[in-house]
Amino acid sequence: MFYIAGTGSALPEKVVTNDDLAKFLDTSDEWIYTRTGIRSRHVITHERLNDLAIASAKQALADAGIAGSDVDLIICATMRGDTFTPSLACCVGEAICSRAPAFDVNAACVGVLYCMEIADSFIAAGKAKNVLIVSAEAMSKLVDWTDRSTCVLFGDGSGAMVVRAGKGRLAGELSCDPDSHVIRMPNIEGVNSPYNESEHLPLIMHMDGGEVYKFAVNAMGRNIEEVCAQANLTPADIDWYLPHQANVRIIDASLKKFRIDKSKVLLNISGCGNMSATSIMVLLDEYAKKGTFKKGDKLLFVAFGAGLTSGAVIVEWNKD
Ligand code: UT7
Repeated sequence: MFYIAGTGSALPEKVVTNDDLAKFLDTSDEWIYTRTGIRSRHVITHERLNDLAIASAKQALADAGIAGSDVDLIICATMRGDTFTPSLACCVGEAICSRAPAFDVNAACVGVLYCMEIADSFIAAGKAKNVLIVSAEAMSKLVDWTDRSTCVLFGDGSGAMVVRAGKGRLAGELSCDPDSHVIRMPNIEGVNSPYNESEHLPLIMHMDGGEVYKFAVNAMGRNIEEVCAQANLTPADIDWYLPHQANVRIIDASLKKFRIDKSKVLLNISGCGNMSATSIMVLLDEYAKKGTFKKGDKLLFVAFGAGLTSGAVIVEWNKD
C-alpha cells in the first residue's frame, strides 16, 4: 500500500577507526575487520541525537517534495532517544512543524521494518497518506566501552524515509523469538524512589555474540524465504538486498543458500559499523542518492536484533 517517496540520513562528524580503538582496548584492526567487516564507525561527540534525527527527517521531506504539515504520522525507531519523554518522534514533529500523531518504536535493530509495517497498516486503513519514518541510535551511549567484544561493533547515526500511499510494498514479515538473555540492556531502576527495591544496574549492553550470530543467520534466511513466498517471488527475483549491517559474515552466511549474485547485496558496514535500526536507513539513502535503484526494482530489507526480533519487507522502487 505504500512506496518510498523520499530518503535522508545524518551521521556524527567524528570517525573512529579500529586503530583508534586499539589505543585503549586489547584489540586490533585485523581482528575487527576479519571477524566483522568493520573498519570505522561514526560516534557522537557534540551532537544531540535529536539534531541528527531532525536533519535526516528534513532531507527525506525535501526529497519527497512535501512539508512537515503534509505528514500524517511520524514513527521513530530508537532504543533510547535524548529524552524518555517527549519521544524522539514528538521532537521531530516539533522541528518540522507537524501536528501529526507521533510515537517511538523499540524493536532494536529491526525497528525500521516494524515502522514500515505499522505505516502500511495506517495507510491501508485510510488513516494516513504520508508517513515519516525516522531512525536514530546513539549506540555509543549504550555499549560498555571496556568490553572489546561489543563496543567495537557499533556506530551512531540517523536515517529517514517518507512512505506514501501507492503501489510499492509487496510483502512484509515480522517476528519475535522472545529471549531476554542473549542481548540485554537493563534500565536504571529505582533511582529516585524511596520504595523501589530493585537492583541498581548500569545502563550498558550485554551480549552473547555467538548466540546472536546463530540466531541471526537462521532468522534472516527464514525471513527471506517467507517474505519472498508471500510476494510470489523467488530470492533470485530480488534486485537489491539491504540486510541489517551487523557483521559481513552473518550477511554472507544467511544469503549463501540462495546463491545470490553478491553485487546485489548492498553494504556500508565497513565505514559505519552496526547502527542498530539506523543501518538499513543509511544504506537505503546512500544507494538511493547514488542512483542505484531504477523504477520497478525490487528491494528486500531484512534484519534481526535484540528481543530477539527479526523481519523482512519487499518494496518495489516506485519513487517519482
Ligand atoms: O545487531 C545485533 C547485534 N549483535 C551482533 O550482531 C553480534 C553477532 N555476533 C558476532 O558478530 C560475532 O559473534 C562477534 C563479532 C561478536 C565475535 O566473533 P566470533 O568469531 O564469534 O568470536 P568469539 O566470540 O568466538 O571470540 C574469539 C576470541 C575470544 O578469545 P578466546 O576466548 O578465543 O581467547 C574473544 O575473547 O576473540 C576474542 N575477542 C577479541 N579479540 C580482539 C572478542 N572481541 C575481541 C576484540 N578484539 N574486539
